[in-house]
Amino acid sequence: MIDQHIQHVLMILMMVNIGQVSYSIPEEMPVGSFVGDIAQDLGLDVKRLKSGKARIYTGDSAEYIVLEKEKGVLLIKNRVDREAICAETAPCALNFQVILENPMEFYSITVEITDVNDNAPMFKRGEMKFKISESTVTGTAFVLEQAIDLDVGKNDLQSYLLYPTDNFILKLQNQADGGKIVEMILDKPLDREKKDRLSLVLTAVDGGEPQLSGSVQIHVNVLDSNDNAPVFTQKVYKSSIREDSPTGTVVIKVSAMDADEGSNAKISYEILNSVDDASEIFKINRETGEIKLAGNTDYERKRQYQLHVQAGDTGSLIDSCKVTIEIIDTNDNTPAINIMSKSTVVTEDVQPGTVVTIINTLDPDSAENGKVQCTIQRDIPFSISTTSNNFFSIVTDSQLDRETESAYNITVTCSDEGVPSLSSSVTFTLQISDVNDNAPVFERSSYEAYIVENNTPGLSIFTVKATDADWNQNARVSYILEESSVNGVPVSSYVSVSADSGVIHAVRSFDYEQIKDFQFCVKAQDGGSPPLSSNMTVKILIQDQNDNPPQILYPVQTGGSMVAEMVPRSADVGYLVTKVVAVDVDSGQNAWLSYKLQKATDRALFEVGLQNGEIRTIRQVTDKDAVKQRLTVIVEDNGQPSRSATVIVNVAVADSFPEVLSEFSEFPHDKEYNDNLTFYLVLALAVVSFLFITCLVVIISVKIYRWRQSRILYHSSLPVIPYYPPRYSDTLGTGTLPHVYNYEVCRTNDSRKSDCKFGRAGSQNVLIMDPSSTGTMQRIQNEKSILDEPHSPVEVGQRAALSFSYSHC
Ligand SMILES: *[C@@H]1O[C@H](CO)[C@@H](O)[C@H](O)[C@H]1NC(C)=O
Ligand SMILES: *[C@@H]1O[C@H](CO)[C@@H](O)[C@H](O)[C@H]1NC(C)=O
Repeated sequence: MIDQHIQHVLMILMMVNIGQVSYSIPEEMPVGSFVGDIAQDLGLDVKRLKSGKARIYTGDSAEYIVLEKEKGVLLIKNRVDREAICAETAPCALNFQVILENPMEFYSITVEITDVNDNAPMFKRGEMKFKISESTVTGTAFVLEQAIDLDVGKNDLQSYLLYPTDNFILKLQNQADGGKIVEMILDKPLDREKKDRLSLVLTAVDGGEPQLSGSVQIHVNVLDSNDNAPVFTQKVYKSSIREDSPTGTVVIKVSAMDADEGSNAKISYEILNSVDDASEIFKINRETGEIKLAGNTDYERKRQYQLHVQAGDTGSLIDSCKVTIEIIDTNDNTPAINIMSKSTVVTEDVQPGTVVTIINTLDPDSAENGKVQCTIQRDIPFSISTTSNNFFSIVTDSQLDRETESAYNITVTCSDEGVPSLSSSVTFTLQISDVNDNAPVFERSSYEAYIVENNTPGLSIFTVKATDADWNQNARVSYILEESSVNGVPVSSYVSVSADSGVIHAVRSFDYEQIKDFQFCVKAQDGGSPPLSSNMTVKILIQDQNDNPPQILYPVQTGGSMVAEMVPRSADVGYLVTKVVAVDVDSGQNAWLSYKLQKATDRALFEVGLQNGEIRTIRQVTDKDAVKQRLTVIVEDNGQPSRSATVIVNVAVADSFPEVLSEFSEFPHDKEYNDNLTFYLVLALAVVSFLFITCLVVIISVKIYRWRQSRILYHSSLPVIPYYPPRYSDTLGTGTLPHVYNYEVCRTNDSRKSDCKFGRAGSQNVLIMDPSSTGTMQRIQNEKSILDEPHSPVEVGQRAALSFSYSHC
C-alpha cells in the first residue's frame, strides 16, 4: 500500500518531463506484434533508451506490452483480450509508463484496445423445455432465456430469430436498462393430435463483421386436452344373423377411435334404443363394442333391427352410429292349413271337376321356406289344384259312386319347400249322398214256381225279391204286377203280388185240367224320384192232383140197350173178347190206368190185361159155360190216392143171336135203371143251358158297362207311372209301406181346366183300389206337384192328371 503511494508520488515528481503518447491496437494481436515506435514518437534516441535503462512500468497490472530497447518499439508481450481487460467498459485502454534513468524521465503511454468481434452471442443452457397444453389460448407469452455476447458495441448482441414460426412468434421488449426480454408468443393454437412435439430454434445474432450468432433449441411438449370426440370407424354397420341363433352369438363389433390420449381416449359404448325391444335383444360390451344376441329373434315378427350405438369418452364427448341387423329366415314355421269352405256332402252324380273344398295355407317363413305345396292321397277320385297363391281347391276328378264308396276321408298334406321341409296335414270326411241311379235288380231274370191245383185262394205261391243298391228311399223296392191277360182273363184274377214283400198269392183255386201254366211279369220299382224299375217274368206251373177218376169210353154204358160181346164157343184160349178203353184227364201217374177184373160170373174164363184193358179168354170155352157172362172191370189210376171207375162188360158165349137174346131178356132192373138215367140227363142239360145263357148275359152287360165308362173317363190313355211322391215318402220314415193306398183322383179331359176339389169322399171322384182284388197298386202321379209346387196340395189337385200303366214283359 505504501509502495503504491510512493509510486504515485514519484509519478507526480516526474511530471517534469512528461510526454504523452497514444496508440491504438485491436485486441487479440499475436504476441510480438508491433504496437508503436516509441523512440521516434517520444523523440528519444535509442542510445538514450539504453543508457537510461528504459523500462515499462505497469504498476501491478499485467504486462501486455513489452519495450524493445534496441529498436525503441513497443511489441505485444501477452495476448490482449479486450473483454478480459475491460469487460464491458468502453473504450478500453492500457495505460503504462516508460521510465528512463539518468536522468530520470518518464513518459505516459496509452494503448487503446479496440474491440474485435471475437465473441458470438451465447446461451447459457443448451436447450429450453416447455410443456404447453393444446388448449392454451393464443397470445399467451412464454419468456425465453436471453443470450449473452461479450463483445461490445456493434459487436454486441443485436437481435434474436425464432424458427419455425408455425405456432409461435418472437417478441422482444426493451427494458429500461437497455436489456431485452425475449418472449415467445402462441400465435396459432396447438393440436396435440397433429403434432405433440415442437422443436424450435432461437438464434441470437450480434452486429459484428462478420456477424456471429448463437442458438438454442426450444422443445415444446404439447399436452393433451380432451378436445376430440370418439369417432366410429363406420357411420353405419351392417350384419345379419339367423333367427335361430342362440343367445350369446356375436353379431358385430363396432369400434370408435378417440384421437386424444390417456383417459381422454377411454371409450365406452352404449345402445340407445329405447322405443323398441332391440335393447333387450342385443347387448353391447361397454368396453369392446362387441354386440351379442341376448334374446330371441323371430324373422316372422321382425326382420330387421336398427341399433343406435353411442360411444362416449370420459370427457362426455360422444359419437353415434347405426347398426343394421338383418334377421335371416330359417324354416321354423310349419304351414297352417285353413279350410275356407267345404261341403260335407256331395251327391254322387256331381260332374267331374266340381269343387268340394277350398283351403288356404299360411307359412310365415320367407322365400322357399314359405312356399307351400299341398297334395292329397292318390287313391281317391279327387285332385287338388292351386288357384292362386296359397289357395287350393279340391275337385272331383272322376264320377263318384255312392254304391262303391259312400264316404271319403280326404287328407290334405301341405309342405313348404324349405330344407328340411316342414309339413302339416288335415283330414276331413266327405259324404257321398245317394242319387237314384240304380234300378232294383231281381236275383234272376225269370222264375218258375209250382202250385198244386185245387189250392185254396189266397195261398202264397212264391216270393220274388229284388235288391236296389241305392240308399233309403231310393232303395225301397215295391213290387207291382204288370197287367197282362192269361187266356183272355186279366192276370190279376189269377195272382196278386204284395207290394212290399214281393209275395205272390194265388187269387183263385187252379184247375190243372183247365190251365197248366201261365206267366206274368212283376215289376220292381224303387222309391226314388224319378223311380227306376226293372221287370222279371214269373212262370207258374200248376201241378196235377188226382182229382179226376178214369173215364170209361168203351164199352159205352147205355141205359136202354143191352150190349154184349159175343164169344163163339169155339173160341180158343186167349181169344180177344173186347177191350176196355178208359182215359183219365189227369196227367202223369194220375192218368196212368190199370185194369182189373173185379167180378166175374166165371173167374176162370176171362182175364183183363192190366195195362191195355184187353179182355181175353184164358181157357177153352166149353158147352157147360153159361151163355150170359157178366164181368165187372175196374179201371184205376195210379194217383195217390187212386181213383177208379168200373164198367160192366156183358159177354155172350153163344154161337147164334137167338140164343143170346133169350138169355139177356132177363134183366128187368136194367130197364128201370136206364129210364132214370135218361131223366137225369135231360134235367142236367136244361140246367146247364140256363146257366150258360145267364152267364152270357152277365158278361156282355159288364163288358158294355166298362167300355162306356172308359169312353167317358179316360179320353187320353196316358201311361201311369206308379209313383211315391217324395213328400209322401218323407213322412213315412219307418221304411214300410202301408198295405192299402187310397188315392184321390181328379178326372178331367183337360187337366188344366179342372175345377174339381179334393175331399169329396163318396162321390164319383173317389176311386178305391184294393190291392187284394187287383193284385197291384195303381198309383197316381201328379207331375206338377213334384216339379213345381211340392207344398200346395190344392194346386196339385187342380192340375192332376190321371194315367194308368200298361207295361208288359
Ligand atoms: C274315415 O275316418 C274315420 C275316423 O278316423 C273312420 O271311422 C272311417 O272309417 C274313415 N272312413 C273311410 C271311408 O276311410
Ligand atoms: C220289361 O222288360 C222288357 C224286356 O226285358 C222291356 O222291354 C220292358 O220295357 C220292361 N218293362 C218295364 C216296365 O220295365
